Amino acid sequence: MNSIIATPEWLKLTDLARQELDEAPTLRERFASEPDRFRNFSLACDGLLFDYSKQRIDQNTMTALHALWRSANVPAWQQRMRAGDAINTSEERAVLHIALRAPQPADAVARVLRQMRDFCAEIHDARRRGATGKPIRHIVNIGIGGSDLGPKMAVQALAASRKPQPTPQQIHFVSNLDAAHLASTLANLDPRDTLFIIASKTFTTQDTMVNAHSARQWLVAALGEAAVARHFVAISTNLPAVQAFGIEAGNTFEFWDWVGGRFSLWSAVGLSVALAIGHENFMQLLSGAHAMDQHFFNTPVERNLPATMALLGIWNTNFLGAGNLAILPYSHSLELLPRYLQQLEMESNGKQVRRDGTPVGCDTAPILWGEAGSNGQHAFYQLIHQGGRLIPCDFIACRQADFTLPGHHAALLANCLAQSEALMRGKTHAEALAELRATGGNEQLAAFKVFPGNQPSSTLLLPRLEPYTLGQLLALYEHKTFVQGIIWGINSFDQWGVEYGKQLAQRLLPLTTGAQAIDTLADTLDSSTAGQLAWLRQP
Ligand code: F6P
Repeated sequence: MNSIIATPEWLKLTDLARQELDEAPTLRERFASEPDRFRNFSLACDGLLFDYSKQRIDQNTMTALHALWRSANVPAWQQRMRAGDAINTSEERAVLHIALRAPQPADAVARVLRQMRDFCAEIHDARRRGATGKPIRHIVNIGIGGSDLGPKMAVQALAASRKPQPTPQQIHFVSNLDAAHLASTLANLDPRDTLFIIASKTFTTQDTMVNAHSARQWLVAALGEAAVARHFVAISTNLPAVQAFGIEAGNTFEFWDWVGGRFSLWSAVGLSVALAIGHENFMQLLSGAHAMDQHFFNTPVERNLPATMALLGIWNTNFLGAGNLAILPYSHSLELLPRYLQQLEMESNGKQVRRDGTPVGCDTAPILWGEAGSNGQHAFYQLIHQGGRLIPCDFIACRQADFTLPGHHAALLANCLAQSEALMRGKTHAEALAELRATGGNEQLAAFKVFPGNQPSSTLLLPRLEPYTLGQLLALYEHKTFVQGIIWGINSFDQWGVEYGKQLAQRLLPLTTGAQAIDTLADTLDSSTAGQLAWLRQP
């Protein structure tokens, strides 16, 4: 397998980056000398606007990045994904989350969608009730990683799209192995009107299974064993394990091994979302994602949104040396988006071995972090503005508010625009001094009021946060992640890196429970682990 870093296209970009870092005009100078910069470096797509004019690029950079896309043969990989080839090579699986959002899905997918629709209707109009006949008022999704982050984020993101129901339900999410999460959730619930969704692709994940068993005990203690059938449903690819847990086939929503955990929101894993916003709205979410799929597969690289985002990320990471990416949604409803994208990008592309087992030879997924604006402004923006690190930012905002109160949205948008402007423009010492002189301020403060600027950012604008646009947004980041993985030569669809810790935890469990003496593992335990264990096992 040829290494991308040895290609002439990569070397050309290395040259351009040297110029960019040593002698290129700053973003402020570029905007001053290029009146068409916004027009040249922004894309409109199906109601979205992606402005990347505040990235540290010029036309030569973009041309070279487009050449890199061709050199990595991305279009062939797009075709392979669509054709259902086993592009998850280490697990020998197809990668077909795109098939879950096709307007005319395959029979199995359509069957589960109908099952979800019927289930939502039965819960909403209280035809399906708890074992004592009470309507279901609380739904607890127990899952972790992809079986939690996507639905939890989407339920919050789409709170404004919830339709009034005859018997409305509150949706809760429990993921953490720490009993604090489940216990504090159950403390406010009544088993008679609570339904549990156990969401786990494998149905073996320790965190989820421990929580599921505790939830089952809580329910059985109050209502008896026979109540399990009315209060538990499962979402999984592992039907025998679901059955062994005691959830019958009629209460099981299937999905398939060709859906990766972090890409599973579009499958039955989205059941809690469908329950929250209604089945029709859930179909709109799928439809927005499908529209982005169509755009991604059918648009030349020069106007392709996920491709452009991916290539800019490669430029910032591999050529300008940024080790991180800040996700800054100016939408409280998108507060959980950074966490969701952490799993999507870092679990997919946080790897150093290529598909053929050889080293990648360059940095891969940046450390992704972030927070909703304006909260982030009052926490860490100081460092982005004056901390001296290169921190590429993705700003995300909506033209219309999803929740309205007079004055809020205009102020929020002004802050979003102001932040990317400040990051781009910076403030010179002379400007800081002039400001202080104009206001009679202490001139000694000028040094502290200098902003280097030239900090790269992109801004994605949505018309409004609703199911369709959320679908577009998430599929955009999915395809971006896929493209970057192809360019780095890695398999974005496995996650071997999470296995080792799990394996060691299994070995240590008898020591933390006290079932096994510490010295039985003395030969294999390092002194740090042994010392901590001994301290923890004190009475
Ligand atoms: O963190 C590893 C992982 O396998 C994720 O990829 C996945 O989303 C999560 O655990 C949960 O897995 P499951 O849905 O099988 O319980």
